[in-house]
Amino acid sequence: MSGNKIIVLDDAQALYVRAAEENAHHAGEAICTHGEFTLCLSGGSTPAGTYELLATRFLLSIDWKEVQFYWGDERCVPPDDPSSNYAMAHRTMLSRLPTRPDQVHRIHGELPPDEGAQSYEKHLRNIFALAEDEFPRFSLALMGLGDNSHTASLFPGTPALHETERLAVAVEVDAPQRHRISLTAPVFNNAATVLFLVSGEGKAQAVKNILEGARDPDQFPAQLIAPTNGELVWLLDKAAARLLS
Ligand code: 6PG
Repeated sequence: MSGNKIIVLDDAQALYVRAAEENAHHAGEAICTHGEFTLCLSGGSTPAGTYELLATRFLLSIDWKEVQFYWGDERCVPPDDPSSNYAMAHRTMLSRLPTRPDQVHRIHGELPPDEGAQSYEKHLRNIFALAEDEFPRFSLALMGLGDNSHTASLFPGTPALHETERLAVAVEVDAPQRHRISLTAPVFNNAATVLFLVSGEGKAQAVKNILEGARDPDQFPAQLIAPTNGELVWLLDKAAARLLS
């Protein structure tokens, strides 16, 4: 496993720019090597700044027709709901890119949760032509971090943390959108690169717990994310990195 990297940026805007640069770098590498860039998007609010930059300043830096968009998790709401992770990515980026509809593989949050999870798993298995015990390998998985150390929709103390076979599961979590669909840790850990984007003072304790605390993935789920044959990169702004030694 290649080393883990922690990169601290001055502020949120610098983090958004560096994250966009990382996306462009990995896109170029993946398209040259594999003919496509499979990008697993994160939700929440942090990535919006990067998505905006990818659709503007970096628009000509990526061969968008070779990019396949996936999501690491989704809230169980319709795709036009303001809390939908797809809606956020569409508003900030996808609506402004020269992509075909078949390049966008959203999680169908409008379905009943279990059905939506099974449907996405079936779609991933089909698109990636997976055998029963295989996991998709994303070129790049973007991940966020909650102030309670959750990532994607893998929340502390939930059964989803122990899933080792399913690709996607329906979860009920302690958050404003209780019902969600999340990819599982083995999927993220099969990515070529995992890139965490973490900004703000409110995340400092979670960052400290995950990177320097005792190993306790049940309490700090982001500790589950450790690519088995890939690179783990943490992009932090100074506020989020404040408590690191
Ligand atoms: C989601 C995300 C989630 C998010 C964190 C951080 O669906 O909410 O996938 O894991 O990345 O909750 O969210 P913020 O970026 O809004 O702080």
